[in-house]
Amino acid sequence: MSDRSLAIEEQAWEALEKSIIHYQGKPIGTIAALDPDITALNYDQCFIRDFVSSAFVFLIKGKSDIVRYFLEETLKLQPKTVQLDCLKPSRGLIPASFKVVHANGREYLKADFGDHAIGRVAPADAGLWWIILLRAYVIATGDKSLAERSDFQEGIRLILELCLVTRFDMYPMVLVPDGASMIDRRLGLYGHPLDIQSLYYAALRASSELLTPNKENQNIIYGIYNRLGPLLKQLRENYWLDTERLNVIYRFQVEEYGEEALNQFNIYSDSIPFYRLAKWLPEAGGYLAGNLGPSQLDCRFFALGNLMAIISSLADEQQCHQILNLIELRWSDLIGNMPMKLCYPALEDTEWRLITGADPKNRPWSYHNGGSWPVLLWMLTAAAKKMDRGELAHHAIAIAERRLAEDRWAEYYDGPDGRLIGKEARKYQTWTIAGYLLAKEIIADPSHLKLIAFEPALSAN
Ligand code: GLC
Repeated sequence: MSDRSLAIEEQAWEALEKSIIHYQGKPIGTIAALDPDITALNYDQCFIRDFVSSAFVFLIKGKSDIVRYFLEETLKLQPKTVQLDCLKPSRGLIPASFKVVHANGREYLKADFGDHAIGRVAPADAGLWWIILLRAYVIATGDKSLAERSDFQEGIRLILELCLVTRFDMYPMVLVPDGASMIDRRLGLYGHPLDIQSLYYAALRASSELLTPNKENQNIIYGIYNRLGPLLKQLRENYWLDTERLNVIYRFQVEEYGEEALNQFNIYSDSIPFYRLAKWLPEAGGYLAGNLGPSQLDCRFFALGNLMAIISSLADEQQCHQILNLIELRWSDLIGNMPMKLCYPALEDTEWRLITGADPKNRPWSYHNGGSWPVLLWMLTAAAKKMDRGELAHHAIAIAERRLAEDRWAEYYDGPDGRLIGKEARKYQTWTIAGYLLAKEIIADPSHLKLIAFEPALSAN
């Protein structure tokens, strides 16, 4: 490793350590950002999704205590009783974030279930990440006893009950409101967004490993196995886009009724930007679409969902390679000057106005709407390494290293090529720092992948 690279890693370590939050004398999580120049808003909190990147790094470095304490304390925040009061968080929900509050000489944790967040959206991803992290903790420490504890078994059950419950649709995907994940503002992700479905699949797989087969868990285990197959099929078949699939959709029949319908979602050809897509999609590439619902197929590329689909083996082997081919062949669009685009392309003009609600933070090619997020570097690295395509990861890390430390670990970058530091980006954003460190750890020793990745499901082969 070059001296420069070593120095950057050292700085990252120092910054990560500074971000650690303590509760009752013990490390419990990491703060979202420690930017000395901008007011914190809620960036002084520990976000569940943000902490996962730090947590993987801590587990790899043998610092499992902070992860254990985090899992234990966040579990206590989860409401355990059925809630008919609409102003209270639902049973099973894991908060988006929490902070340590000092009052009357005592310390307590104040959780945000979306009831304080901008836009007031409850996180659908927090519980899923929580389960994925618990599995990683068990693998890293070899200690199953934490997950086997009855409060942990209950915690998993309650998170899954929220997802497995029958709702107002007939799909295996989980139905969520807009802005319920890393993209926590309106961006047209109401319904069945890929980012959530990929995490859902990984969390179901993790739960099948973590739940003890006993009478109490019997129904939920049945629910998991009943869901995994149809979810996998739906994602692999109906979300998938490549040249061949584009040709099928282009010539879809519509208004088909009944069981034999091929175009089950009644997608109208005119709603798909075929000419742009046919030009953009390389012959060897493909990806999972961003969202699917009645007469809706969102053809934007979402990085988190696609990368997690590779990592969790939600995508089949060929699809995994096609997704990585797409990233390789559309490098300047998806990676550019900073790995990598959260979503591509950006919504512009009328689409931006209608779909985002004219959100200035999400103006075209900024923030969630076509901005580039360095935290995704670890997911890209894990996905590439899992498929033996390490060269992609090396290349991406080298690009990130040119800027990250110098730009003081910015939260995100703007512009079609990711050249500008995000307009409202925080500096010393913890998951940027942890994402970089995690990518370096995975590249240095791919055996760490076992914490994060899943083998293909036997029944899917
Ligand atoms: C922003 C991001 C969200 C993240 C939070 C803290 O709200 O959209 O994904 O968890 O900042 O970093």
